[in-house]
Amino acid sequence: MKDFWKKQAAKWPIVTLAPMDWYGDSAYRQAMKRVAPDIICISEFYSADGLVHSKFLADSVLPHQTMEDPLIIQIFWKNPEMFAKAAKIIEQSKYNIAGIDVNMWCPAKKVVRSGHGSSLLINEDTAFEIIDQLNKATKLPISVKTRLSFDGNQDLLRFWKGLENAWASMMTIHWRTAKQAYTGTADWTNIYELRKHLNIPVIGNGDVTNYDDGIKRMKTTNPNGVDLNWFMIGRCSFWNPWCFLPWEYHPTLTEILEAMEFHAEQLVLTKWERKGSLEIRKHLVQYLSHFPGVKQYRRRLVTTESFENSQAVIDEIRETFKSDLLKRPSLDEIDKEDYDM
Ligand SMILES: Cc1cc2nc3c(=O)[nH]c(=O)nc-3n(C[C@H](O)[C@H](O)[C@H](O)COP(=O)(O)O)c2cc1C
Repeated sequence: MKDFWKKQAAKWPIVTLAPMDWYGDSAYRQAMKRVAPDIICISEFYSADGLVHSKFLADSVLPHQTMEDPLIIQIFWKNPEMFAKAAKIIEQSKYNIAGIDVNMWCPAKKVVRSGHGSSLLINEDTAFEIIDQLNKATKLPISVKTRLSFDGNQDLLRFWKGLENAWASMMTIHWRTAKQAYTGTADWTNIYELRKHLNIPVIGNGDVTNYDDGIKRMKTTNPNGVDLNWFMIGRCSFWNPWCFLPWEYHPTLTEILEAMEFHAEQLVLTKWERKGSLEIRKHLVQYLSHFPGVKQYRRRLVTTESFENSQAVIDEIRETFKSDLLKRPSLDEIDKEDYDM
């Protein structure tokens, strides 16, 4: 079990779905895996304290479909003992979780002030202790998601080596500092330098637009070839599960509408009608990014109250665009004037 990530490394290239709060739930992961079955999904983050004290939380967020396997659950907190307790709950649950990822990434002020997330980049000893205690508590592999540094003033190699020495089995690094949050561009230039010193797999993250872009980054940053480095995609998957496929895959209108239907259906199945049909709004409108003349549909999708509502809008789009269903909206010209309303 502990060698999960090393074994995955033999299957290069590995692409991972970024952990994303408000996005990376079971329905989202299924929507991605339906199109790109080979990716590895990391869940949105859950509080270790929450998992320990709320059976309801554990029973809501750990269940998933077989198609999501192997599923990695990301947790955050600050003290090693709570992490260890949460790990036991995850491992002993009946939900077949493949690994635990520790959030040392989050730059939000309230998270940092409470000693969670990226503040662990400046509390190195606690960070190492967390990984050590987790490894003692569970047989599941422990990975870490972190940033280039907190504010550019940390000894990165000491931090990363320390995590490796505590038996972190994989590290994902978002190539921005916590201070930068999302500003500027992710600086990937150090990734090869880092790889030289680490024996565990390293995943690069930050601004990857699609599979081909990810491969290009691996090759240009590593003069000796691609080795064990992989990449992770986050925001570019919002409307586009096809970003995980090679050759810059451009979906047809039919494929997009089917993906929307599937995503909506899974969300109401996993979160029940009321919650699911409110949450699906933000996803559905994003799938329409490349459609011409869809203003009126977007307006209706952001106010949809039920699965039937959103299904009716999707059916109407299918009917309106029936002569363009095999076109690829991001490539082919769809005559805007025909549809502008
Ligand atoms: C809406 C949203 C929620 C996020 N939530 C998390 C999270 O729970 N845990 C985490 O480690 N990173 C989280 N991230 C950061 C992403 O995992 C990723 O590191 C970041 O978006 C950069 O990758 P990208 O440029 O491919 O989007 C979140 C990002 C977004 C946009």
